[in-house]
Amino acid sequence: MGKTDVMLGTMLKDFSHRTPVMTDVETLKRDAGIAACAYVSSGMKVGLGTGSTVKYTVIELGRMMAEEGLEIVGVPTSLATEKLATEVGIPLVKLSEIDGLDVVIDGADEYDPQFQLIKGGGAALLREKIVAQESSGMVVVADDRKRVDTLGAFPLPIEVTPFAHQATIRVLGRVLNCRVNCRMSGDHPVITDNGNMIADAHCGPTIQDPVAMEKEILNIAGVVQVGLFNNMCDVVVLAGANGVETFVNPNGRLK
Ligand code: A5P
Repeated sequence: MGKTDVMLGTMLKDFSHRTPVMTDVETLKRDAGIAACAYVSSGMKVGLGTGSTVKYTVIELGRMMAEEGLEIVGVPTSLATEKLATEVGIPLVKLSEIDGLDVVIDGADEYDPQFQLIKGGGAALLREKIVAQESSGMVVVADDRKRVDTLGAFPLPIEVTPFAHQATIRVLGRVLNCRVNCRMSGDHPVITDNGNMIADAHCGPTIQDPVAMEKEILNIAGVVQVGLFNNMCDVVVLAGANGVETFVNPNGRLK
């Protein structure tokens, strides 16, 4: 039995007693976020995702360091997560100064049966993807609203350069044949941690081939990155009416 089998076994044991009916979304997020900490052990370099679900992971990792002797270093995927991780006492390192990460734990806006993801609802997709790319495993934490048959009901986030962003957005609309808008905060475009903007593509639940779509979008000048995370997710820790369930990608790296 490998290390991951042991961790999965632990998770099943830990959560088998849970009451099966849970409806409060915040409770689901917290349960998924905390359960995913089973994938972290002392000595690991851990990617710390962004969002309202993985924030519970970050807080729990801080608690485990303070109370249980867990020793890790983290790489945050956003300025918001950097602030939270610092507040809860997780020592941070720069991704460029280390040789990869053991695991990243992050949220998702949607995931499909092939474990392909839409991310970027929190505008952190570029750093999230760089961190995921550097990780030996990716664990996604989510509540069961995020599970879909076909990606795309959630508007697909695309990070674009500020230069000529309206033109890039027009090209995206033509290529994807759907409405694409610049994400706004009041009267101003949302600016990412990297100084870019976010275009949201409203293609509907039609993304049958996310790998081809990712390539097509990345081929457009002005696009910095797209929130399709293909062939990256190894495990989904999902909280829903059945309690916390762990779904392991049969083609993933964490067995
Ligand atoms: C951040 O840009 C996103 O990729 C988030 O990880 C994603 O939107 C999930 O966030 P929630 O857990 O808040 O739904």
